[in-house]
Amino acid sequence: MPLLQVVQPVSQTSILATMKLRDDNLPGATQPATELIFGEWYPAMRGDAVRAGETATALLLGVPLLMGRRRDGAVFAMRDLCPHRGIPLSAGWFDGNEVQCKYHGWRFEPCGGQCTEIPSLTQFDVLQPNKIYAGAYPCVERDGHLWVYLPEAGAGRITDLNKLPPVPEVPKFSAKFRSAHLSAELPCNVDHGIIGLMDPAHGPFVHQAWWWRSRASIHEKTKKFEPVTGERADGGDAGFRMASHAPSANSAPYRLLGVYGSEITTTIDFVLPNRRFETIRAGARGGGEDKWFASLTTVTPITPSTCRIDVVAAWNVFYNVPFVKPIAKFFGARFVRQDQETMVEQAEGLRFRPAMMLIDDADLPAKWYFALKQRRLTGQGDHPLKEPVELHWRS
Ligand code: FES
Ligand SMILES: [Fe+2]
Repeated sequence: MPLLQVVQPVSQTSILATMKLRDDNLPGATQPATELIFGEWYPAMRGDAVRAGETATALLLGVPLLMGRRRDGAVFAMRDLCPHRGIPLSAGWFDGNEVQCKYHGWRFEPCGGQCTEIPSLTQFDVLQPNKIYAGAYPCVERDGHLWVYLPEAGAGRITDLNKLPPVPEVPKFSAKFRSAHLSAELPCNVDHGIIGLMDPAHGPFVHQAWWWRSRASIHEKTKKFEPVTGERADGGDAGFRMASHAPSANSAPYRLLGVYGSEITTTIDFVLPNRRFETIRAGARGGGEDKWFASLTTVTPITPSTCRIDVVAAWNVFYNVPFVKPIAKFFGARFVRQDQETMVEQAEGLRFRPAMMLIDDADLPAKWYFALKQRRLTGQGDHPLKEPVELHWRS
């Protein structure tokens, strides 16, 4: 089964087509942009989309990328613009080792971007090609994503990966596990994608399903949140955690999981710039291996006004039961598609730049996100969450 499964936007094509027509009559009615956070790792695309010797293009935070994999396996992310005169490098050639520009044939080593040859030079020239660099960004494959580090403007060439923040990863708690992933493009800016991700109040309306819940199941909830302060001086990895300890799990679904009689702990962390980690752990019956399920969901800016949601999950529950992965993917894809369809509809309204309301307590995590983002961008201000708090809402 291919690792890459892009959730096809069922109604997006038709809605987007309508939007285009209407846009012609509506001055400036493209999607509102937002400020983006550079100096972070973002997933640019799936690794299995480029085999050895292949390239592909991607757009990340509005930066055009030429992604690829050298014949020796090394992955790379070049700025898809030739430093000579700006033609996309993707218009040229890749021989599995070097990228050659289509216009005047300059050649580049793709991982570091160094120019290796300028065909027009003669013995009378003093220009040294190896002093010239095309844009090339750190690129690492993890959990099947190709993560790319996009530096802040003016940061200079990055030569030492050890000086960068760590590449995000789904936590894993045993040697054997299964994994799956989902992606969906969202026609709104990254802020709307992220606050949609942490929004508890939309569940009963957007995610209605006989197997999940209905509107009638709305009830009051109390959740504990605590600050996540992170290690970085710029507050780049700061966020907040929702933690819960379920009482002894004796219900039928838990018995099915093989965790009868044990404590189940769930934590959901949101950390800047765009990451939601969910971890569910339970001690196994009879002292076996712990049962766990973990996921990393990211909402990544493609441009200042569009984004993509990526979910990667890993688990060891049901390890030996057949068909669990396709079933999990089916329900996961449906869940993500419900969010996606709602945001496609929301994007219709956002073109008119309406004012926004964030209400207590259900939208408080969204307020924290905006405060954390401002703090990261300006380097000023305190963590919006001083101490653990309890939030109440109905969902
Ligand atoms: S534009 Fe690329 S080599 Fe001239
Ligand atoms: Fe949702």
